Amino acid sequence: MITLYGVIGDPVAHSLSPAMHNAAFKALGMDCYYAPFHVKGRYLYEAVNGARALGFGGLNVTVPHKEAVIRFVEADQAVRDIGAANTIDFHTNKAYNTDAPGAIASLRDSGVRVKGRNVLVMGAGGAARAVTYGLLKEGATVTIANRTAPKAADLAAYMREYGDVFGTGMDSLAEKVAISDVIVNTTTVGMGEDRTLVTAAMLGPEQAVFDLVYKPVETQLLKEAKAAGAKAIDGITMLARQGALSFEIWTGVKPPLDVMERSARDAV
Ligand code: ATR
Repeated sequence: MITLYGVIGDPVAHSLSPAMHNAAFKALGMDCYYAPFHVKGRYLYEAVNGARALGFGGLNVTVPHKEAVIRFVEADQAVRDIGAANTIDFHTNKAYNTDAPGAIASLRDSGVRVKGRNVLVMGAGGAARAVTYGLLKEGATVTIANRTAPKAADLAAYMREYGDVFGTGMDSLAEKVAISDVIVNTTTVGMGEDRTLVTAAMLGPEQAVFDLVYKPVETQLLKEAKAAGAKAIDGITMLARQGALSFEIWTGVKPPLDVMERSARDAV
């Protein structure tokens, strides 16, 4: 019998996860199917329990439900620390966060070491939370720079338990970039537009730039990074890795990462 999986979000229509997971199921010859479900906040509880009741294998949870969902599912330690989950496994009835390890895997697979290095995280929203947590657990020193400085300070105060982290505004950004080994963009700047907060003039060839934005795949920020000779890591790299980690949690099978990554790149 076919096992169903899906992603719940609002909006969810443009999610690349169905293409990615179905490509992996097909490549492995697994009798499984993954679909997107548009779920409004007021139906989140019913949706999760309905999927469980219908025998779904698991769900991905995306914006804006990642925080709310942990109120009624059993969460693992990282989910409790981060305050957000993106994966529910109905075999174990547990929630996980694969965004944090997905981000770390993206850097590692791109040959970027973060232990003991200075990482600048731009943005202080949900994505910044997961990425900062992952970086701190790896032993990086993190500066969170956000347009709304108090939000960066709040996030840094919350994350201080896990490592060396500071929160600041976006002023004097060039100076903050200059003292960073790795720059991560978790803001929405560059999504469907050619704007960037960091330009080539601020960067050098020893640095790595990681943009979580994946539409377009090559953002203006990544173009600037390449122009400066810096290493450029795109958002599809992370999307594929968080997806592969969810897949493994659900099925116990390591999926073909190349297949997942390629299908996401084709679908974007
Ligand atoms: P996500 O869940 O993807 O992290 P979010 O929680 O809505 O999304 O966070 C969006 C982030 O992008 C925030 O850090 C936001 O900054 P503010 O806290 O100041 O709103 C940042 N952001 C959005 N538009 C921006 C802009 N034009 N310039 C700088 N930062 C921006």
